[in-house]
Amino acid sequence: MHTPRRGFLNTILSSSFAATAAAVLYPIWRFILPPETAESAELSATVERAAEMPPNSGQIFRFGQRPGLLVHTPEGEWRAFSAMCTHLNCTVDYDPGARMIICACHNGVFDLSGRNISGPPPRPLESYSVNLRNEDVVVSKV
Ligand code: FES
Repeated sequence: MHTPRRGFLNTILSSSFAATAAAVLYPIWRFILPPETAESAELSATVERAAEMPPNSGQIFRFGQRPGLLVHTPEGEWRAFSAMCTHLNCTVDYDPGARMIICACHNGVFDLSGRNISGPPPRPLESYSVNLRNEDVVVSKV
């Protein structure tokens, strides 16, 4: 007579334990494994009407899941970089007065080739290739 009740309780306890374990382990598992994103598949982005940017200007654009920086140099060349600072991932921007790429977080400075030339950034910015297509600029991973 006790056996069916004990079996029922064991089933309930086992189910509760399994549900609790799943509730605890699933977030840990999701945290450990990187999310599957289309980021690596996003190899190019189009900056519409970028040809209207005057020389000596910059523009932040979306490059996959991250920001990119398109620079129209004072000499009229186009350059594109990851806009994520190599120090602590703040977003960099083009400074037309200094004619440099700067990171306001800790005064990091990059030249127009993306090289880290001052401040704490340990590496150059990732650079991308740039192609003009009519009024648009197409930025692609190198
Ligand atoms: S995050 Fe750019 S200099 Fe620190």
